[in-house]
Amino acid sequence: MNNLTPVVDRSQRVVQARKLTGTILDQVGNTPLLDLSHFAHALGVAPGVAIYAKAEWLNPSGSVKAHAALRIVEEAERTGELAPGKILIDSSSGNTGIAFALIGAVKGFAVQLVMPGNVSPERKALVRAYGATLITSDPLEGSDGAIRRVRAMVAAEPERYFYANQYNNPANWLAHYESTGPEIWQQTDGAVTHFVVGLGTTGTFIGTGRYLKEQNPAIQLVSLQPADEMSVIEGLKYLETAITPGIYDPTLHDQDLRVEAEAAWQITRLLAQKAGLFVGVSAGAAVAGAIELAKTLQQGLVVTLLPDDGSKYVSLGIFD
Ligand SMILES: Cc1ncc(COP(=O)(O)O)c(C=O)c1O
Repeated sequence: MNNLTPVVDRSQRVVQARKLTGTILDQVGNTPLLDLSHFAHALGVAPGVAIYAKAEWLNPSGSVKAHAALRIVEEAERTGELAPGKILIDSSSGNTGIAFALIGAVKGFAVQLVMPGNVSPERKALVRAYGATLITSDPLEGSDGAIRRVRAMVAAEPERYFYANQYNNPANWLAHYESTGPEIWQQTDGAVTHFVVGLGTTGTFIGTGRYLKEQNPAIQLVSLQPADEMSVIEGLKYLETAITPGIYDPTLHDQDLRVEAEAAWQITRLLAQKAGLFVGVSAGAAVAGAIELAKTLQQGLVVTLLPDDGSKYVSLGIFD
């Protein structure tokens, strides 16, 4: 036992490990692209089709929203909209708010977030942990109620706030045009054939999709929405009845698929049990959508994205 020799040489991986050279904000992006093909083939996807997924929960603040939040803040600092003494305010069902709270903590500005009162206690705790102020809106009005509440607060005292406005701020989709898109293109050596992702503010889909289409117009862009208004998948919007984000471009997608919440929950559980991936429900929805699409193909490289991990969803009972 004293002379154990390693079965796998991990020295290479240690050399490649990320170094923390600046602040935590320097670690946003460059997330790994995981190969989920084995998982997908076991669920009936043809052997000629591969499914890869970006591990976005590895970003600082624990979600894909770190890209958009950081880009929004940097742009506002550049234009002077986020001047010293101003409070950053926005509505968020969680992840963008958590990212803003972290960035405010690092950069030293105050953050106020409006979230529907029924968002999970884990999300509220995270925002408060980073020192941001949390204002809750009517749970029955969902994320649209939070948007209306922020608009009213900013209208009453415009000079007090920088309104980040993630639903209408072009820096949201630009973040993905400049990072997520190029990363997927490079990580697949340009071999990606389909990109599948859920729609929340739509920033991830629009920014990544625009970049990929510019590299190769044959790449198919597939957006995902919950099956109907009653189908709740945290992080995703049913655009037919929600306030449409100003950054959304309805002409970009090649296909727009619907995912049942039950299917999203089931795949979320399976990802933990069969692939060791403890991810959130919108990640389950993304993989469910990617698999549904992949089942229609014989050949291809389908790329999707896992927006966050499962820790904020434990109280929903999804893993019980
Ligand atoms: C868990 C989760 N999944 C997916 C999304 C959707 O991403 P986007 O807002 O870029 O459309 C969000 C956005 O808030 C999210 O929090």
